[in-house]
Amino acid sequence: MQSATVRKFADAVPMAMVLFGPDQRALVANSAATALFANEVEGRLGSAFLRHPTFLDGLEVCIGTGTASTSRVSMVTKGVESCLAVHFRPFPTESGQGALVSFEDLTALEHTTAMRRDFVANVSHELRTPLTALVGFIDTLRGAARDDAPARERFLGIMEREAGRMIRLVNDLLSLSRVEAEERSRPSEKVEIIGLLRGAIATLHDQAETAGVRLDLEAPAGPVFLRADGDQLVQVFHNLIENAVKYGGSGKNVRVSLTRIEREPALQGPALRIEVADKGEGIDPIHLPRLTERFYRVDTHRSREKGGTGLGLAIVKHIVNRHRGRFRVESEVGKGSRFIVLLPVGDLT
Ligand SMILES: Nc1ncnc2c1ncn2[C@@H]1O[C@H](COP(=O)(O)OP(=O)(O)O)[C@@H](O)[C@H]1O
Ligand SMILES: [Mg+2]
Repeated sequence: MQSATVRKFADAVPMAMVLFGPDQRALVANSAATALFANEVEGRLGSAFLRHPTFLDGLEVCIGTGTASTSRVSMVTKGVESCLAVHFRPFPTESGQGALVSFEDLTALEHTTAMRRDFVANVSHELRTPLTALVGFIDTLRGAARDDAPARERFLGIMEREAGRMIRLVNDLLSLSRVEAEERSRPSEKVEIIGLLRGAIATLHDQAETAGVRLDLEAPAGPVFLRADGDQLVQVFHNLIENAVKYGGSGKNVRVSLTRIEREPALQGPALRIEVADKGEGIDPIHLPRLTERFYRVDTHRSREKGGTGLGLAIVKHIVNRHRGRFRVESEVGKGSRFIVLLPVGDLT
């Protein structure tokens, strides 16, 4: 094979590869390697572009003894740390025993693993709190409160609340995993959105009344259809309206509004804009970018007190993504918050 073909072949491989000669100098580097090290590689010593003892040992052993091995190396390029699996393979060159070294980028994989670890830790922590309370009260009911009827009633009430919290958490976790699993498939039902919003408001009527909050709906007359997953959209607006009731402040109103937009720039086409606005305490801008992360709450204690799981907005974001829509939050401390859902209205035939 011509050497030009060999070079094109190496450049077409997405993994960074460098061929070292017996003197540990790079004879050939493919373009992925030049990109990885953000520098010229060919003609230079290995120690000149990756000063890492594990890497240098692996290279020396491979060239010296002809043994293959794999090592893990972390490096920092332009302030970004990446984690690499480095594979050393003996490779004969014209001037003697060399080594073909390939670099597998594990950064994304490590990131996913870390996220999964955090998630499991969060879930365990969220479940442990109510479980600890339950176990504690069972003890008290067997002992001190055994013959104290009013205390027993009170403790059973708390136990019911804690058990309810665990059920909500498990239900939210199941919703989240279901929505994530379906995220790539586009919803196909024909859904009438004004009726759906009315339904979501009606289910929350009692909760709003207890909290002293009035719920208003502003929408155009007549039915408005779109392709969607009706059950999932109910979840979206239930979550948003419930949050507005919980955090919107007693004695104030929550406004749900629907408007049609001829051309929404973010969606490059016609859209529906549904807004849930409250006049509550508002949210400090530093929290806004993280609000849709799982278990992220502005005030963990308050959210727990109000029976929240911290998963509502994460579920909302995933459902809106599945509908190829956009989700935005605007808020001003002391004035209130607006949660905006933009949904594309495509072809309905
Ligand atoms: N309308 C709102 N006004 C003020 N803060 C809000 C509002 N909606 C949500 N938040 C904040 O965002 C957090 C995350 O909301 P969510 O994911 O629904 O979790 P939860 O309601 O279970 O706590 C809440 O804990 C709260 O701090
Ligand atoms: Mg919520």
